[in-house]
Amino acid sequence: MSYQTVTLPHITNFSASDAYRNAIHDLIPGGAHTYSKGDDQFPVYAPAAITHGKGAYLWDVDGNKFLDTLMGLTSVSLGHAFEPVLERVREELLKGVNFSRPSVIEREMAERFLSLVPGHDMIKFAKNGSVATTAAVKLARAYTGRKIVARPYDHPFYSYDDWFIGSTDCDFGVPKETQEMTVLYKADDLNSLQELFAKYPNKIACIISEPEKFNVIEEGFYDKAIDMAHQNGTLWIMDEMITGFKTDYPGSIKKFNAKPDMATWGKGIANGFSFCALTGKKEIMEYGGIRRKGEKKVFLVSTTHGGETHAIAAGLATMDFFENNKVLEHNHSIGDYYIEGVNKILAELALQDYIQLTGFNWAVGMVTKNAEHQPCLHYRTLFMQEMIQRGILFQGILSPCFSHSKQDIDLMLSAFYESAVVYKQALEKGYEAYLVGEEIKPVFRKYN
Ligand SMILES: Cc1ncc(COP(=O)(O)O)c(C=O)c1O
Repeated sequence: MSYQTVTLPHITNFSASDAYRNAIHDLIPGGAHTYSKGDDQFPVYAPAAITHGKGAYLWDVDGNKFLDTLMGLTSVSLGHAFEPVLERVREELLKGVNFSRPSVIEREMAERFLSLVPGHDMIKFAKNGSVATTAAVKLARAYTGRKIVARPYDHPFYSYDDWFIGSTDCDFGVPKETQEMTVLYKADDLNSLQELFAKYPNKIACIISEPEKFNVIEEGFYDKAIDMAHQNGTLWIMDEMITGFKTDYPGSIKKFNAKPDMATWGKGIANGFSFCALTGKKEIMEYGGIRRKGEKKVFLVSTTHGGETHAIAAGLATMDFFENNKVLEHNHSIGDYYIEGVNKILAELALQDYIQLTGFNWAVGMVTKNAEHQPCLHYRTLFMQEMIQRGILFQGILSPCFSHSKQDIDLMLSAFYESAVVYKQALEKGYEAYLVGEEIKPVFRKYN
């Protein structure tokens, strides 16, 4: 297709969004419930709040319609307001959502989810990913009797809790003693792991890592890495928050035939509903149980809303849909189609040295560089501004979902082409001539 022939919208009315932006920061610190959704993550010409979504589309407070690309920070794997999931949720809602004893749906989910996760015998539910990763870290400390946690320095995020956030630039409010208990290594690098174990002998409780993030993982990597951890008395936590239901079904644990001691799950597993989980080997997970008579008990995740029934129902319906439809194949083919289209555009406009795709067909990222070939947030913001004005809510990432069609991606590619033309002009004349307002800011920064 020719990207020049499609007529795209030119969205300029963000007046209700401006009013929302003006009001919200007096009500909610940060204006949102994850910093990733904040105003400082978007150009001025962008929706400040969404009224509703359907399939792969969203509508903002000004009534503007957008194709969604990041899909609820990658949590919406099937589509917004996806009817087969809603149907199951509605049924569950009518039965009540919270009781003073567990709901029967908890057992159904536990058996079903564990049947998918090779090598793991027990599961604990959570409402947020951060809670699941923190629970895994706590269990690892209790099980090993060690304090130190290791995580890759080149991965962005594992939890808002102190053990993680204290190891980033956002360490304000985290005691120094806590910060010192998290140490860093280079992801996917056996030498870096080896050095870590040499530096902290018999001290590291666990390694927590996403199974695949930026690099292609070498065959057999996890056998070697997890084996090395075990030889050093350290547990391995595989954080499948983003990879779960994306790289494979249920995730990279199966793709790599990996044998981590625990795994953490969230985002795409319940199509955006608040259902997350920690899975693990029985001997470790039992530390959070109440059957080890006379033994110390770990106060594992314990929250009033942890067993909320309709979110669990959403998870079950999501699994049904994944198992009865070729969701992964569809999502991966959407990612491949986008990658192919973008690379053609970049070649046609000779922009390959300035805009580069990263990641995989299940989550396609993008690096934006300035005229000096340095990654640049001003240019990233400009590109986002141009895409958003053309009806694509874009943060530089496509997280393909089942509701994305090839026609949607054609639309996205047309917008990409036009935005890249503006980008090219900006490289010659300077972004200042094109960007309205301030550039986006890193989420993990010390100062506002
Ligand atoms: C890899 C990873 N782990 C954990 C989390 C935390 O999940 P949540 O935002 O649900 O607390 C995130 C969130 O972005 C994540 O990307």
